[in-house]
Amino acid sequence: MAIPQSLAPSSSSAAREARPMLRRASPSRVAATGAGATGEPARRLVAAFDPAIPLASAVTPPSGWYTDPEFLRLELDRVFLRGWQAVGHIGQVKNPNDFFTGRLGNVEFVICLDANGKLRAFHNVCRHHASLLACGSGQKTCFQCPYHGWTYGLDGNLLKATRISGIKNFNKNDFGLVPIKVAIWGPFVLARFDDFSEDTVDDVVEDEWLGSASELLSRNGIDTSLHHLCRREYIIQCNWKVFCDNYLDGGYHVPYAHGALASGLQLQSYETLTYERVSVQRCGSAPAEQEDIDRLGTKATYAFVYPNFMINRYGPWMDTNLAVPLDATRCKVVFDYFLDESLLDDQNFIDRSLKDSEQVQMEDIALCEGVQRGLESPAYSVGRYAPSVEMAMHHFHCLLHADLTG
Ligand code: FES
Ligand SMILES: [Fe+2]
Repeated sequence: MAIPQSLAPSSSSAAREARPMLRRASPSRVAATGAGATGEPARRLVAAFDPAIPLASAVTPPSGWYTDPEFLRLELDRVFLRGWQAVGHIGQVKNPNDFFTGRLGNVEFVICLDANGKLRAFHNVCRHHASLLACGSGQKTCFQCPYHGWTYGLDGNLLKATRISGIKNFNKNDFGLVPIKVAIWGPFVLARFDDFSEDTVDDVVEDEWLGSASELLSRNGIDTSLHHLCRREYIIQCNWKVFCDNYLDGGYHVPYAHGALASGLQLQSYETLTYERVSVQRCGSAPAEQEDIDRLGTKATYAFVYPNFMINRYGPWMDTNLAVPLDATRCKVVFDYFLDESLLDDQNFIDRSLKDSEQVQMEDIALCEGVQRGLESPAYSVGRYAPSVEMAMHHFHCLLHADLTG
């Protein structure tokens, strides 16, 4: 809830001429709260991991990477508020006037498709007294602030500022919503919070977001042909990287923690490929029993797009997992399920698949929350990597280290 503003200006502030603001007075770069003040302890934690040590001899990052609030502030500033970030899927902005909102660190954003079909993104903050503007998702022809009714078009322009008669040095063209750069790759909506240039070239986005992995991902059916079926969200009591690490262990934990899933996979066929900012794990599946439709298909592809987006393509399914940090020891993971059109009528198959997936997810949540508690214990400081399987995890930690020192 927004804090009520003082209604009566002081005589001195009334006498002072308000300085007109630049239209869309955008900071040159958005910074996480207090990121500028991130101090030595967080930097010391970054330096405690040495990416130059080969995997077989390397130790993992220290537990402070997973527990320290200042370290998270540094990550928000150096990792999440730089470069492209996955924020949604195209089904959320399919029709003109569709919108959805989100939050990353202290950035509140709204993504919408304007009446002309142009995709737009803005900071979801009213230019009057900073109230959040839009809420949730849905359809709107304009954004009316719930506080005092200032109204903005889906192109970000301020259409109406209520009860401002007598105001001086005010041009409503100067008070549009602050824009965010937005783009689409395949079925995914991406945003970047550190670049305010208007135009986005698709090839550049592909290269910046996926690098040389883009072709492999396209070839493996990560495209717009699948139908978005449903979304599931989980609040997990662990640092966002614990969830990513769990994903990136090359199937190491599968036989111990996911008995049912392990019987459907050929774990000896597991392979890991690393690219600039993407890693891909692939695994063959055991043949389905009897005439069952094969949920896992013949080859599963698990792509990790740094820093926090996972794309899983198996059989007729694709699911994506977005691990959003909430605080140093909590994250929200958003699962979106996409299915081949031909199976949309097969409710039995859908229910069974989602139930199997939910079981794996519950098993992973228990693991991740157990790891977080262990990381917070005084007994643990650093660990080791299993060199033949945990390559993608090491790659992830090296990328983080590079961004956090850069
Ligand atoms: S905060 Fe006053 S209209 Fe939005
Ligand atoms: Fe798992």
